[in-house]
Amino acid sequence: MSVDSPDDHLKFSHGNNNAYGGYEKTAIPAHDPEITETDPGTPMGEYMRRFWQPVCLSEELTDLPRPIRILGEDLVAFRDKSGSIGVLHRHCAHRGASLEYGIIQETGIRCCYHGFEWNVDGTLIKAPGEDDNGERLAKRVSQGAYPAFEKYGMVFAYMGPFAEMPKFPEWEFFHTYDDTEILSYNNIYPCNWLQVFDNIPDQIHTAQLHSPTMRVISEDDDGSYPSTAFNPVFAQLPVMDYASVRKGSAMVFIAGRRVGKDKIWVRIGDVILPNMTTHAYADEDGREVRYFHRVFMARWYVPVDNENSIVFGLRMFGPSIDPFNTGDKSQCGYDKADFLDGQTGQRTRESAQRMPGDWDAVTSQRAIAVHAMENPMREDVGVFMNRRNLRQAVRGDNPDARPDVINQRANAGQRDYVYGNNTVLAIPIQDNRDDDDLVREVCKKVLEICEAGDAYEGNERDIFIESALKDFEKSYVSSVAAE
Ligand code: FES
Ligand SMILES: [Fe+2]
Repeated sequence: MSVDSPDDHLKFSHGNNNAYGGYEKTAIPAHDPEITETDPGTPMGEYMRRFWQPVCLSEELTDLPRPIRILGEDLVAFRDKSGSIGVLHRHCAHRGASLEYGIIQETGIRCCYHGFEWNVDGTLIKAPGEDDNGERLAKRVSQGAYPAFEKYGMVFAYMGPFAEMPKFPEWEFFHTYDDTEILSYNNIYPCNWLQVFDNIPDQIHTAQLHSPTMRVISEDDDGSYPSTAFNPVFAQLPVMDYASVRKGSAMVFIAGRRVGKDKIWVRIGDVILPNMTTHAYADEDGREVRYFHRVFMARWYVPVDNENSIVFGLRMFGPSIDPFNTGDKSQCGYDKADFLDGQTGQRTRESAQRMPGDWDAVTSQRAIAVHAMENPMREDVGVFMNRRNLRQAVRGDNPDARPDVINQRANAGQRDYVYGNNTVLAIPIQDNRDDDDLVREVCKKVLEICEAGDAYEGNERDIFIESALKDFEKSYVSSVAAE
């Protein structure tokens, strides 16, 4: 509305108090500390510390120590010359100099200031100023240290109480296909970890933020398909369903889409406590039948501190997981991603505004998104389901979300299961049947079959799920034919 004359302001109306209400909305309530804050001693921080967490990429470890900050703790990570990984408190236990200036040794690291040598486990190897070389001192002084190791180009550390350290979960999707190569990457987010995690159970955004229409075309734009958008089938609003699984220690989102007249594409993703997600192949277009096609990416949302976080991702490459050969290994690494633009803050402000991506939407929700200011819509149910899982877990209200229960399979040497997959079934549109209803029913059944697979170990699980999906598909085709 333009104001042409001094009297035009009289035309403004407050409506039902919904219009021009800026003045009434300036208060910003506090954020939700229970599930956003992760410093030492906080409920969420204590919970998260009881799981192995990625803390940096292998490529960040060079001949120089790497200062990192994780869960509000200043740390230094390094690979000593014998190949052991150290993740130590950053400030030297002698008189506080930062070990980022330390000199990496054959074994451990040597503080630059007075030469104390710390092993990767934090024990004192040598204190050169002492007449016994620090032998006596070593009995009572140590540097804070965390168990850490490298896997798939990522450094994982355990920052919880030593006595409660679980075995590292050997997720089954690491081993799905023999021809898979796994690489790692990360993305740096200047905002609280939870809103980055929230972005996954907020699955409806894939049909908005990642649709080809969510852009502002400039004059010199060639109009090519936007690099922040998934393929056009994704832009079709899915029939969404959400389910709490494994007794509230995880949830899944299920997106069902009708593709053409005769296919239903069901995409399932896991959102796992405390901070992990899985992602089925993102270039699926639903045109060919597919049964339980698996995880092409797994991610952890790791707090740096309350207002910064890092997404750590593992990407799977190879003909089985990437049938359309769209992966780009050269785009895996520090603050990079090979699947969609808009995963980092490295674009220009203008290109981010013209073609916004996940990074732009999520970091712009404030440094710590304020839950008390949100006005949920129906499709936010996944976000709230995940937050409820988190809240119950940190309060100890859900015994099945206790870290020792979640880590049970890992501790028993068994592989942890996830349900993340794409399944495309040849189930045609039916006469006299609401198609959304049909898609919803198929979504539920696909999840049910995946969950029933929990009864089987190893390959037998995949075989069971695939054949159950085929039987289900057949039952549909024959029931249609019988009508
Ligand atoms: S501060 Fe590290 S050796 Fe003195
Ligand atoms: Fe997204």
